[in-house]
Amino acid sequence: MNVLAVNGSARMENGYTAMLLAPFLEGMKEAGAQVELFYARRLNVNPCTGEFYCWYEKPGECYIRDSMQLVYPRLREADVFVLATPVYIPLPGEMQNFLNRLCPLIEPILSKRNGRTRAKFHGTIRIKKIALVSACGWWEKGNFLTVLRIAEEFARDVNIEFAGALLRPHVQLLAKNEEKKKEILEAAKQAGFQLAKDGFMSKNLLETVAQPLISEEAFRQRDNDVYVNLKRVG
Ligand SMILES: Cc1cc2nc3c(=O)[nH]c(=O)nc-3n(C[C@H](O)[C@H](O)[C@H](O)COP(=O)(O)O)c2cc1C
Repeated sequence: MNVLAVNGSARMENGYTAMLLAPFLEGMKEAGAQVELFYARRLNVNPCTGEFYCWYEKPGECYIRDSMQLVYPRLREADVFVLATPVYIPLPGEMQNFLNRLCPLIEPILSKRNGRTRAKFHGTIRIKKIALVSACGWWEKGNFLTVLRIAEEFARDVNIEFAGALLRPHVQLLAKNEEKKKEILEAAKQAGFQLAKDGFMSKNLLETVAQPLISEEAFRQRDNDVYVNLKRVG
């Protein structure tokens, strides 16, 4: 099984998204998957120019000559696509560019599925599942709703299975809690292993990864105190 992952974090290897994604991909490798990881920011991905060249002039081909020309063949060989991103109201710009540039993989034959106009990947695309790995800074899981919706909608648009989301809210608090960090990153690894081996991620593992590390009130107080103290010093 080939896995292609793209990490949209602007902080790339140093970000919390990478901290969560690394054990997840490690788990996939342990289950026998070949994993390839790209950082959207490191690639040179220009914005889609909206000409529909890839749909109505040369279906399947993008005319923009940039890093995506290296990524397209890798995507064509992938069985699982892992979208990893921080929540950035809603996405980092490079990640949005990357997603828009996936248009050439989509065949321009529209149909109505569950009340919505949808398309599907070209027959040459092997991808069978999409999974989301995401980190955010604020307390509640509700902060993932937009990013989750984007990943789910994309999967529905191209008619493939959305295999679930590994979500870590108030992720920065992990750095201050070695014990929980170990437990959560181990669960992320097991989720990756399970996805590659059995094709799904168990609710238990996803809940372990997303568990609260502090009460909601304490979280806001803590964050507000940082700012108040900063203003006092300044
Ligand atoms: C521009 C921007 C917008 C953000 N928007 C949100 C948000 O709406 N909700 C949230 O919980 N966190 C938000 N965050 C916090 C990030 O999700 C958090 O810092 C995350 O760890 C960043 O990922 P990274 O460590 O891989 O860089 C935002 C951060 C930035 C820089």
